Amino acid sequence: KAVAIVGCPFSGGQPKLGVDGGPIHLVEAGLPEQLAELGWKVQFDGHHQFEDINTQDDPPIGKLKNPRLVSRVCKAVADVVGNHAKNGQLPLTLGGDHSLAMGTISGTLQKYPDACVIWVDAHADLNTAETTDSGNIHGMPVSFLLGLGPKIEEFSWVQPLLKPHRLVYIGLRDVDVGERRLLRENGIKAYSMHEVDKYGIGRVVEMALDHVNPGRKLPIHLSFDVDALDPTVAPSTGTPVRGGLTFREGHYICEAVYETGCLVALDIMEVNPSLEDTASVKQTVAVGCSLARAALGETLL
Ligand code: ARG
Ligand code: MN
Ligand code: MN
Ligand code: MN
Repeated sequence: KAVAIVGCPFSGGQPKLGVDGGPIHLVEAGLPEQLAELGWKVQFDGHHQFEDINTQDDPPIGKLKNPRLVSRVCKAVADVVGNHAKNGQLPLTLGGDHSLAMGTISGTLQKYPDACVIWVDAHADLNTAETTDSGNIHGMPVSFLLGLGPKIEEFSWVQPLLKPHRLVYIGLRDVDVGERRLLRENGIKAYSMHEVDKYGIGRVVEMALDHVNPGRKLPIHLSFDVDALDPTVAPSTGTPVRGGLTFREGHYICEAVYETGCLVALDIMEVNPSLEDTASVKQTVAVGCSLARAALGETLL
């Protein structure tokens, strides 16, 4: 039982300052010690230092903003996460914006090619270079992992190893038109807030697991964007959307994934300690920590 915390103070996949402070706040709040208390052997060697590419030297490629920076950072993250996984450690990546998952999931797939992905988010982050309106790459990592959309030389290191039937979404409620089409065309399973209301979170997680991991034998990568939670629960995030998961629904997902015994990698993304007031920041950071603890076994009696 060993976890390696990968702190990624990175914000280049979206325009708001401050999301790079997320990992620092999560660690300062005591996450490494909390996980040690749960019986994990915790490795944390400080936050990652990424090379800095000036925006002037990184003009858009098509609509994509900061493409070289995002690509190089994600490549570095892929190698770090992949190496921890190969060491038998469970990589826990703290973001930082969700473009980083292009790296974390690539890293997981290096070691576990048959891994499935549970993506918990208000957004699908499935835009391609063609469908994106914003040009923000944190709205696009999944399309790169699936190999959808036009090929971009700068991102040619990303192996499209993720298969549509090994991916499932929970919590969606702000999905762009192009993303809806991609979900449909590729037969990607998604449980939106509508299904959470209709079936309850227990059934939704069970159906999601049955879809991506029928025999509960495949490795699971859980990528959790804190904006999946309702903004009253996790206010300090860059793209909040109302009508989200409750505190318990979010934690339930993490607990149920832990219970499968299949979790091999975890991301906690999009905590932005520069947004909203001090109390909101404290609350959001605390929720980020407790989601991580839930996914690593805290609430199993
Ligand atoms: N769909 C929008 C876009 O493409 C929002 C994406 C938000 N993504 C996130 N990781 N918070 O820009
Ligand atoms: Mn999101
Ligand atoms: Mn996201
Ligand atoms: Mn601060």
